[in-house]
Amino acid sequence: MSVETMIPLNSKAAKFVSTPKQLFINGKFVDAVSGKRFETLNPATGEVITTIAEGDKEDIDRAVAAARKAFEEGPWASMKPNERARLLLKFADLVEENIEELAHIDTLEFGQPLATTTAFASSVPELFRYYAGWATKVTGETIPVSTPGTIFNYTRREPLGVCAGISPWNAPVSVAAMKLAAPLSVGNTVVLKPAEQTPLSSLRLAELFVEAGFPDGVVNIVPGFGPTAGAALVNHPDVDKVAFTGSTVVGKEIMRSAAGNLKKVTLELGGKSPHIICADADYEKALANAAFGILFNSGQVCFAGTRLFVEKKIYDNFVSDLINYTKKYKLGSGFDATTTLGPLISEKQKNRVLNYLDIGQQEGAEMLVGGNAVSSDLANGYFVKPTVLANVQNTMTVAQEEIFGPVICAMPFDDLDEVVKTANETYYGLGAGICTTDLRKAHKLAHAIKSGNVWVNTYHLMDPASPMGGYKQSGIGRENGAASVLDTYTQIKSVWVDLD
Ligand code: NAI
Ligand code: MG
Repeated sequence: MSVETMIPLNSKAAKFVSTPKQLFINGKFVDAVSGKRFETLNPATGEVITTIAEGDKEDIDRAVAAARKAFEEGPWASMKPNERARLLLKFADLVEENIEELAHIDTLEFGQPLATTTAFASSVPELFRYYAGWATKVTGETIPVSTPGTIFNYTRREPLGVCAGISPWNAPVSVAAMKLAAPLSVGNTVVLKPAEQTPLSSLRLAELFVEAGFPDGVVNIVPGFGPTAGAALVNHPDVDKVAFTGSTVVGKEIMRSAAGNLKKVTLELGGKSPHIICADADYEKALANAAFGILFNSGQVCFAGTRLFVEKKIYDNFVSDLINYTKKYKLGSGFDATTTLGPLISEKQKNRVLNYLDIGQQEGAEMLVGGNAVSSDLANGYFVKPTVLANVQNTMTVAQEEIFGPVICAMPFDDLDEVVKTANETYYGLGAGICTTDLRKAHKLAHAIKSGNVWVNTYHLMDPASPMGGYKQSGIGRENGAASVLDTYTQIKSVWVDLD
């Protein structure tokens, strides 16, 4: 870590994290009923940043009651769609004014470089502006039923009610925003439980919701742990819907819990995305794309292009050039302007990734570069170097289970049919990348890969207007775009009127 290139902590972020944090329920910042608190850590140093009130069942009960009241009564229930849009737009402007602060908060708590967390924070106003547009554009239909003149039938799209959001730590402020913008735009109320590793930026959003003038109870943010606060939310009989982003294991648990009162469920879960590099690809671009596809966010992305399939003709060269490319990444604090790879979120995640490297090698993969980063200035943080595993078979544990670290599993392929078959041999189906200059090949592969998102000659692109989500065990439902607001945050009512 070089002192000259360190960016000082933004003064507003420093002030925000200098005090212990509370839960946000019914428009007020309050302590947990139990009085319990937990520490949040800086993953680059292992140091405690501050303490957070620890929400549990009683706090979730209070938050759900507030959200229910706001949904059924009061200004939110009677608000015109254009007024709702105006509030969302006001909130977007406030977030925009505070992007630097939010990015600094996320870098402090999540560790990734400021460039990354700035991109995350910058996505928030755009998401809210996109959904503010939907507030006035969700319509029903008049249906030509077979009794014209005597019966009038039409549909309404109504909000679901109280929506629970459970967000992960790997894109703190932006995934939290995804649990808020779409449901709010169509008149739902929300109880958000951010990940216990990264609650700070969500709590800063809570302050901005107050500043924007959202009525009490419309948004509630209750940090806490999964098995306590999270489970209380997904088991709550008065919650109408759960939107979850996180591990597939917990996603399945949530679906079981949701069965209690048949909550609607949207799940955005793990991935084991194939990234297919054809010999005819623009070589340099493919190299950069392959590295970015997996190393962005230190590999802590559900879409990460972890299974790198490279056409045999170029495999040896490509893998050796990729190794050199990964060596250019600079590990360090996210506040160091020269850092291109931040730490993993926690010691637990670091150990989990290193354990996968052991398992991979035991099963016959060869670690060509990477592994534990133990240089003295990084020793207290949770750093893993960009890692390339070669000799990987698609059936190996490292090719089947989500690693969530900067680990490339390289595999050669001979022909397209073969690579499609192997790429689809996974329980997951979230993302996929294809690098080729042959348009026909690109679309053929894009159609044949069983995943919810495909990138051709690029990777990780997202936009509020474009749906994202998973095939197979990568999820249920879509976030972003019209699909989210229409299919997952409203319900259709069919109204029959006798005109006689
Ligand atoms: P996790 O799935 O346990 O946590 C995600 C969120 O769910 C957090 O807010 C957590 O508090 C909550 N949660 C946990 N258990 C819950 C329960 N029983 N009921 C309700 N909410 C619950 O993920 P974790 O443990 O942080 O990471 C483990 C692995 O999960 C990672 O290595 C990665 O493979 C995967 N993961 C995938 C993500 C994605 O973007 N799809 C995001 C985070 C993790
Ligand atoms: Mg967990």
